[in-house]
Formats: sequence, structure tokens, C-alpha cells
Amino acid sequence: MQKYNVSFGDKEIALAVEQYGSPLWLYDFGIIEKRIWDLRFFGTIRYAQKAAPNINLLSKMRESGVDVDAVSAGEIVRALRAGFSPKNIRFTADVFDRNALALIKEHSIPVNIGSPDMLLQLHEAGINVPLAIRINPGFGHGHSKKVNTGGELSKHGIWHGELENIAKKAVELGFTIECLHMHIGSGSDYIHLSQVVSAMENSIGRIAAFAPDLKIISIGGGLPISYKRNGSGRMDLEKYYDIWDSARKRVSNHLGHYLQLEVEPGRYLMAESCVLATEIRAVKKMGEKLFYLIDAGFTDLVRPAFYGAYHHISVIHMNGKEANEEVDVIVAGPLCESGDVFTQEEGGVVVSRKLPLAAVGDLLVIHDAGAYGATMSSNYNSRLLAPEVLWERGRITLIRKRQTFEQMLSNEICDE
Ligand code: LLP
Repeated sequence: MQKYNVSFGDKEIALAVEQYGSPLWLYDFGIIEKRIWDLRFFGTIRYAQKAAPNINLLSKMRESGVDVDAVSAGEIVRALRAGFSPKNIRFTADVFDRNALALIKEHSIPVNIGSPDMLLQLHEAGINVPLAIRINPGFGHGHSKKVNTGGELSKHGIWHGELENIAKKAVELGFTIECLHMHIGSGSDYIHLSQVVSAMENSIGRIAAFAPDLKIISIGGGLPISYKRNGSGRMDLEKYYDIWDSARKRVSNHLGHYLQLEVEPGRYLMAESCVLATEIRAVKKMGEKLFYLIDAGFTDLVRPAFYGAYHHISVIHMNGKEANEEVDVIVAGPLCESGDVFTQEEGGVVVSRKLPLAAVGDLLVIHDAGAYGATMSSNYNSRLLAPEVLWERGRITLIRKRQTFEQMLSNEICDE
């Protein structure tokens, strides 16, 4: 199995840690560029920045030709700061908070509505921007129950049965519907895909009368990557594109005008571009079980603890020697909580992983951590957010500093 998906290796990671300390996130922009290129067939690639919203990355991705999705006021601010023009941003949500509504009004940002109330609130606020409608087709899919975005138990989108009413209302209020959108969970497969495609075709047929200006079919995100590095989970992108493109052609013919396809990936663009570099700070036995305790916890990368997500792990020996011996080991973090384990499966089942024998001071690298990594970090246990570092054309640049204790405390008020 290939050790790295990124183009840097042990030496560069050790160098970055020497310069910026541990733990740290190290991104390879070359991988992000490659993944953007993989999806070039689509009319628009709209990056779901929730996966990794650092403005340095956003700005470079803008230069590579992608548009951007924003799901909160904060993400709008990031997109604008990264130089996106408002027309290349789309706000997707099921509710507006007041900050978001104010920014949408100020910058005329197109909106993807996920609830009837959003439509009314736009109108009440005197906002008229091009609309997308996010549809919940009544079924969903995802790598974990927590990321399933369709069906009656999902809060996302406009229920398919209400689609005509909403489209009609939008037209009455003077809006132009330019896009129909469906994001049906992360980690799709082909059987599921064909259901999604027919639901989309059916929805377009139903609202055609109210949406003469419809020009975009957005198929959402959800393109998987192979976290286990065994090919499983990968999608044949050409096949994926062809299935959607045939549907696009059928619908375009039916409507009598051209529609373009838009894809909204987060994970696919970012996951493989980044590693979380950590240091082993303790090696201990609990009965028969061996633990490596590292200086990063679920406050840094929450995916294993939250979803039982698998991430490939490797070791960098700092004494320059390669250890041939492998041992069964549980990798855990420093948090005062027993779920702070990187080798666990869904439901919190702790498992061992075969890893090289290592010692305190060696580095432990958690791979494919670029999507939903740094951005889901927290200050729980009053731990500081780790720095983000970018590897680009052989150079290492700091793109987010390590948080300081002062910054962590800066908004807290104490009488003393
Ligand atoms: N579009 C919409 C409307 C979404 O809600 C999402 C993800 C995406 C696009 C991008 O999906 P992607 O291509 O990244 O699968 N924290 C979880 C994933 C949550 C996804 C939320 N929505 C994880 O770590 O797996």
C-alpha cells in the first residue's frame, strides 16, 4: 500500500514539525489541483468549503476556477475575503440566521433555499436574488447516519411533495428559479445514484412551468474517496458524469433549452490533500493492549470519534531507523475522555491497528485528513487549535498560525 497520497513524505513532515511544532495540518495544494482537474467535465465545480475553509486554500481554489458554496454568515465572509465575487458564491442552508440574511442582502448573493420560511424571509427582507431550490426527494444515503441528508428524518431541503407549491410561490413573489439542487448524503453508490437521477428528472418535470429560467442542475457533493486505500469506495468519475450528463441531455431536450451540470464536492477535493502530523508522547500497556498516546485528540480530528471513521496511520521514526517490527496498537489522544481514540469503529468500538513499533518522540501521521479535519476542531479541554501549513511546489508556508492561550481566552470576561 502506498504510504502517502500527497507528494511530500516523512522528511518534509518532520521538517514542518520542527518549524511549526506538533500537532499540525500539512496540505499539498498539488493534490487539490489534481482533484479539481478530475472534475473538469462538469460545467461548474462549486467547492463545499465546509470541508476546509482556510482562506488561503479558498483563494487558490478560486484562481483554479472553482465557485464556492457557503452555509453560514462566516462562510460568506471567508469567501468574500478569499476574493470570490458574490455571483460565484451560493448560500445553501435550511435556515437563515440574521447575520447571513444581512450579508446576502448587502452583496446580492444567490441563495439555495432549504425551507419555505427562507423564501418568505428573503421576500420580507426585500431581497431578490437568483434562487436554487434544494429538494429532499424522500430518501437518502451516507457513510454514517449522521451524514444522511434525505428522507423524512432529515432536516434538509424542501420536501418533494411541496415542490410545486414552493416554486409557484417563488414566482408569485417575483423570484427567478435558476437551479434545482439535490445533495443526498456523503458517500454515494451507483444504485443510489440512479434513484437520485430519476428523482431529479421527475422534479424538473414538475416545476418546469414555474421555472422557465432554469439553467443549472446541481447534483450536490458526496463523492467518496478510498479512506482504506484499497480502492473500495472510489467512484468511476466518468461513469458518474455520464449518468448525470445523459439525464441533463434528456431534460434539456424536454425543456428545449440548455442546462448545465454543477457538482458541489468538499471531501473529494480536500480529503487526500492533507495529513495531521502528531508526536507520540507516551507508549503504555493496559493489560495485553498497547497504546500510543499522541499530542492530538478528537479536538483536532473528530471523525474517528464522531463517525467511527477510518484514517490510514503511519509512523515516522525520529532516530533515523526504520523499525521492521509491527505491533497491534491502539492510538489515542490526550483528552480527558475515553472516546478520544483514533482507532475506533462506528458505535465507539475500540480496535487495534498494526503499526510499526515506535517510541516516545516519534511522529505519528494521520492521513487523508483534509476534509472535515481542521475545520471540525474545537477548544474542548482548553486545547489550542493546531496550525495549518501548505506544501506547494517544494515550499512550506504557514497558512494558519497555532492559536495562542491569549486568543483562546480573549472573549471571556472576568471581573478581576
Ligand atoms: N453540499 C451540501 C449541501 C452538503 O451538505 C455537503 C456536505 C456537501 C455538498 C459536500 O459533501 P462532500 O462532498 O464533502 O461529501 N463531517 C462529515 C461530512 C458532513 C457533510 C456535510 N455536508 C464527515 O467528516 O464525513
